[in-house]
Amino acid sequence: MRSLFMSGLAGFLVLGLFFKICLTENMESEENRKGKLLSIFNIIQFENGPCAGSESKNGTCYTKEECKTRSGTASGTCASGYGVCCIFSKTCGQQSSENCTYFESGRNLAGSCELKVCKADSNICQLRLDFDSFVISGPSTSATSYAKTVAGSVSAGATNEIATKTQCLTDLFSVTSPGNPAPPSICGSNSGEHMYVDTSDACNTLTFQLGSTGIGTTIANRQWSIKIVQLACDDENRAPPGCTQYYYGLNAGTIQTFNYQNEQHLANQRQNVCIRQERGQCQICYAPVAETDFGISSVIDTMGFIGASMCCGYGEDGAGMSGFDCLVIPGAQNVMKTGIDAGSQFCGLFLGEMSPTTTHKTICSSQTPFSVLFLSDNFEFVDEAGLKGSTGFKLAFQQNKC
Ligand SMILES: *[C@@H]1O[C@H](CO)[C@@H](O)[C@H](O)[C@H]1NC(C)=O
Ligand SMILES: *[C@@H]1O[C@H](CO)[C@@H](O)[C@H](O)[C@H]1NC(C)=O
Repeated sequence: MRSLFMSGLAGFLVLGLFFKICLTENMESEENRKGKLLSIFNIIQFENGPCAGSESKNGTCYTKEECKTRSGTASGTCASGYGVCCIFSKTCGQQSSENCTYFESGRNLAGSCELKVCKADSNICQLRLDFDSFVISGPSTSATSYAKTVAGSVSAGATNEIATKTQCLTDLFSVTSPGNPAPPSICGSNSGEHMYVDTSDACNTLTFQLGSTGIGTTIANRQWSIKIVQLACDDENRAPPGCTQYYYGLNAGTIQTFNYQNEQHLANQRQNVCIRQERGQCQICYAPVAETDFGISSVIDTMGFIGASMCCGYGEDGAGMSGFDCLVIPGAQNVMKTGIDAGSQFCGLFLGEMSPTTTHKTICSSQTPFSVLFLSDNFEFVDEAGLKGSTGFKLAFQQNKC
């Protein structure tokens, strides 16, 4: 989109008499410009592109009048002073169809807080949510048995005791994506994380459900600011289908489970982290950043790789005790010392090494698109809950040349 800034006797604008002074021409002297044929008014046309406003927020460049009409807040100037950097901040109960809208927590937080986000135009396919800040109450940390399960289902006659640890029982953040799979619902501390969501003609709703009493945890000092950017269907930075997160322009970086800042992964996750294959790179390798940066479905404190069927399921008889939660690295290349191929599914306290172990391995894959998938079910077994088996992960990735 573009804005027209008119100065002088703009009222005399005659239809069809449309001429444009590009911003690049602003360098010409005021004298010169005044000397133009129709000097009684100037029309300046500029892109409604991103701009940097105050308080480290991004806005969109509009004329002062347009910004007011669109209920934005002018914050500094842009387009050589012809526009204002227009910032869109919304809070509970509001709606926005502006690109780059901030969803902010505001005061008196309680109950349900929703923001409805609609497409800025029909050619929008995705939203990118950047959690500039994101603190709500974390998941339950209770390792107390509340039920018994077999094959992942609660059953009175079963023997595997389960706990509520990792369940978001107090606060929950969710995003709808009508007609498409929604990203996983999350809680806890997630500042600096991001999420991609497919847009819908029925709009997307971002909801915080905030409990009045802490369940298995204490109520956090809640605060959030989420930057919501709308991506056109042909945007080169649009995430591939099915990605919860997308990292691009990075040969190296770190990825982590949601709420890793509280060192506890969440229940009911399907977090598909995609990493763009950068030019000239053919392989990606992953390793925990620190020794304690891996803990998924571990029932012993030296648990590494046990058997290909140990993770991402409950075993053939449904009585597996380490649990379903796992990390999947498609195309993982990991042949053990014993000659066993460890496959692509990982859990335990140590990545990719034969049990018992106290060291991690670096796991590489050449399968594109580069991605890792974190899966978790609705509960933790009491045994894993008592250990560090539900920490989640923080992995460093590195792409390697062909
Ligand atoms: C967004 O805002 C930040 C901080 O004000 C600024 O550094 C950055 O350049 C802005 N981005 C764009 C695209 O204007
Ligand atoms: C929305 O703004 C971002 C920058 O904040 C920009 O990259 C993106 O192209 C814009 N989307 C549309 C549809 O203009």
